[in-house]
Amino acid sequence: MNASSPGSVLVIGSANLDFVVRASHVPAPGETVLGREFTTHPGGKGANQAVACARAGGASTRMLLALGDDAHALPLETSLRDAGVELVVMRAKAPTGVAFVCLSGTAENAITVAPGANLSLQPHHLPSLTGVSHLLMQLESPLESVIAWARSAREAGVVTVLNAAPAQALSRDTLALVDILIVNEPELVQLTGIHDLDGALDSLDNACVVVTLGARGCLARANGERFVQPAFAIDPVDTTGAGDTFCGTLVAALSRGLPLTGALRHATAASALACTRLGAQAGVPSRAEVDALLARVPTTPAHAHHAP
Ligand code: RIB
Repeated sequence: MNASSPGSVLVIGSANLDFVVRASHVPAPGETVLGREFTTHPGGKGANQAVACARAGGASTRMLLALGDDAHALPLETSLRDAGVELVVMRAKAPTGVAFVCLSGTAENAITVAPGANLSLQPHHLPSLTGVSHLLMQLESPLESVIAWARSAREAGVVTVLNAAPAQALSRDTLALVDILIVNEPELVQLTGIHDLDGALDSLDNACVVVTLGARGCLARANGERFVQPAFAIDPVDTTGAGDTFCGTLVAALSRGLPLTGALRHATAASALACTRLGAQAGVPSRAEVDALLARVPTTPAHAHHAP
């Protein structure tokens, strides 16, 4: 990995307005559940990660996103700008992306995304990479565009980071363009076809692979070493966007020069705090809140020989 100018992160990805209904449980197929109140929140994996990156401080954060010319776009732009994200907005003919989130009493969720404008991001929309140290992407944008952006970033010496979510199969050539791969366990299985965590990690050639493990923390493999970062105990209210908070915070920490172990700690603490509040972006904590949690709970990643 080769950061040309540390401290500047470009995020490319989705922005959705999340339509959230809280209910006792997530309905099974064919079931109707009588929910509680309905609220809307700025969301979308790309935008959530950009907000987390900016709130983590230290890294200047820019985001390329596509929005429709409609009322749903405004709260998304406002949330990103309020967090300090510099925006490059493509105005699409399609409607702004939306996501329908059912949030259960145990803070679990089921999400359906109507991507709309997000699908209009094309390879040629890539902004200048001058001064960019890290490019952070997800899979709510067209895959051909993600591949083209990763290739351009690789050629420019920018560290490429992919959160392979939502899960989809990726070719070896595509994975080879990724320096830092971040996935959760189901996404890791989908990518590798291997159900055993150790075996799946071993099968990937990326310089760094990070697997988020929910209430068990996270596991990373880099330079032939493995690290386990335990989770921080919290009372979860809403896990929507917790993984995104992890990704944005991790990349912000790496871009300001923290070693991987320190970045894992910050990202795990930030994602724990994000679960204690409602809303994907509203839940993203500030750097001060993360530092306070880290000061209270001094856990450090341990070397690991096997997955936890
Ligand atoms: O990762 C959570 C996000 O996934 C939500 O904010 C929703 O918009 C979907 O993109």
